[in-house]
Amino acid sequence: MKFIIFNWKSYLNFDESNFLTKFISKTKFKNKYNLIVAPSSLALGFLKNKYKNVNFSGQNFDFYGKGGFTSFMPISDLSENNINYALIGHSEVRQYRKENNSIVNLKLKLTLDTKITPIVCLGEDLNTYKKKLTTDYLKKQIIETFDKNTQYKEVFIAYEPLWAIGSGLVPTNDEISKIADFINFFLKDYSFKKLKILYGGSVNSENLEQLSKIKELDGFLVGSASIKKSFINKFKL
Ligand code: PGA
Repeated sequence: MKFIIFNWKSYLNFDESNFLTKFISKTKFKNKYNLIVAPSSLALGFLKNKYKNVNFSGQNFDFYGKGGFTSFMPISDLSENNINYALIGHSEVRQYRKENNSIVNLKLKLTLDTKITPIVCLGEDLNTYKKKLTTDYLKKQIIETFDKNTQYKEVFIAYEPLWAIGSGLVPTNDEISKIADFINFFLKDYSFKKLKILYGGSVNSENLEQLSKIKELDGFLVGSASIKKSFINKFKL
């Protein structure tokens, strides 16, 4: 089973999200794919109620619970509405909302009391990549994000190099394989019910076939290409 997460970011308005989800809901996809749609927060609850045969993910949630926290979204908004996945630590949230590894660590813990599978985004910047320090960088991210004495349930890790997001640049298959192996190896001392590794960053219709050859991967986290019907059709029966 390959998991394909459609991260619609803030690309689509409410009507466009509804239109595209309707298209997904009516399309028959190959059994080997599990497509998961991550629309904007406003659209999410509405779409979840309307399209029962589509899987959804939150793009984010906040670590405060219900209460006097203006503009925050508690995790219960997702769990009480049977949303089964949530992105945590996406690089855009890290960049624009200053989310750091310790916040990601806290949010990851909150998912333990829910049925939400967290999709934890990790990845290095261009400078780190150029200096060949990617694994050191990921090591630090992992150590600050995961606790050795916590029994995690199902967790997805999305390896998303910052320099590949929205840029059209993609690491080679060999580089991605090595990173997936490294993450699995480094996390062997941690406890997961299931651990799946995804790749994200400029995945599109042109490179999907090539990237799909990477046997270490369980799927992809896709941004801008995922709002195009031509890309979604790649998974059609
Ligand atoms: P992209 O975004 O596919 O547009 O590069 C991926 C992501 O940010 O998750």
